[in-house]
Amino acid sequence: SAAEKGGHEYFMLKEIEEQPDALANTLRGHFVDGRIVLDEQRVSDQDLRDVDKVFVVACGSAYHSGLVAKYAIEHWTRLPVEVELASEFRYRDPVLDRATLVVAVSQSGETADTLEAIRHARAQKARVLAVCNTNGAQIPRESDAVLYTHAGPEIGVASTKAFLAQIAANYLVGLAIAQARGTKYADEVAREFAELEAMPAAVKQVLSTVDTVRALGRELADSKAVLFLGRHVGYPVALEGALKLKELAYMHAEGFAAGELKHGPIALIEDGLPVVVVMPSPKGRAVLHAKLVSNISEIQARGARTIVIAEEGDETVRPFADELIEVPAVPTLLQPLVSTVPLQVLAAEIARARGYDVDKPRNLAKSVTVE
Ligand code: G6P
Repeated sequence: SAAEKGGHEYFMLKEIEEQPDALANTLRGHFVDGRIVLDEQRVSDQDLRDVDKVFVVACGSAYHSGLVAKYAIEHWTRLPVEVELASEFRYRDPVLDRATLVVAVSQSGETADTLEAIRHARAQKARVLAVCNTNGAQIPRESDAVLYTHAGPEIGVASTKAFLAQIAANYLVGLAIAQARGTKYADEVAREFAELEAMPAAVKQVLSTVDTVRALGRELADSKAVLFLGRHVGYPVALEGALKLKELAYMHAEGFAAGELKHGPIALIEDGLPVVVVMPSPKGRAVLHAKLVSNISEIQARGARTIVIAEEGDETVRPFADELIEVPAVPTLLQPLVSTVPLQVLAAEIARARGYDVDKPRNLAKSVTVE
């Protein structure tokens, strides 16, 4: 009913708006007496100190949350992090032992491939930590430990608030390992946590400005294809933006690492092709920012319609943006939490304009319990 959807036409639109709460609820209770706490009963500091390698296994958007987290976890812990599609993981004989931490990320906790991946990991003696949004689901039950995301029930088939909550939870895992290993001092961990806690307000700010994104979505409804480019943490955001568009609008969409542009994707650019570019901060990542500005000018010169997601006040990129979507300035590693939101809104609006059911896209299921 309309009441269940909080006055929205679709659950997904309600769930997009619930993202500030999803983040706040996921972080709550995990910083106690100056320390990150994951799962009090089951993960000790000693367990985390013993880890020498991390795998993140997941499917769909949850996999993208792992790709985002790799940048943060490697940076904070100095441990190698591999992010693997759960459906590929166990078929290639991954190197696993007691010192391997496998983080299984799943909104439903029932995805068959992710479940089989953790069974394989445990059989090889690796430790498994589930990041899950569903209490008591099969994946947390078969894991050594669990960190719940508290996004609340997600009804829309395409993940939104669970995805943002997964990023926050994965970051808590990274901070807990860094704290245990001593690769970050207590005051640095506290600062990172405080920055995470400021994100619900930043996401709220993004949500208050999405009307222009909606209007743009309606304009793009007849496009044949849309490309998404990003670098660093903006790269998995580009992948997620493209996935949302495929899922909801049945439109051909591809995400690319912007540095790969000259290795193929630039050949796709033709007059009027919409290209969404996720910009890094001009201050926080000046070198990458300059490279992306040069990418944008190249594709614009070849006729692309450039849709640029950039930090507020980024004047350098403005001349190259046919459409500019501004997001608040936040620390680099946290940018995906703000830059993903307009891409969700864009995909939902394009789908609506094309007359599709945003909550129940054709051929897709909310949780994929068969391999
Ligand atoms: C399906 C959903 C996606 C989700 C993926 C993984 O494909 O449509 O939104 O990201 O499954 O689901 P999980 O429950 O394991 O996070």
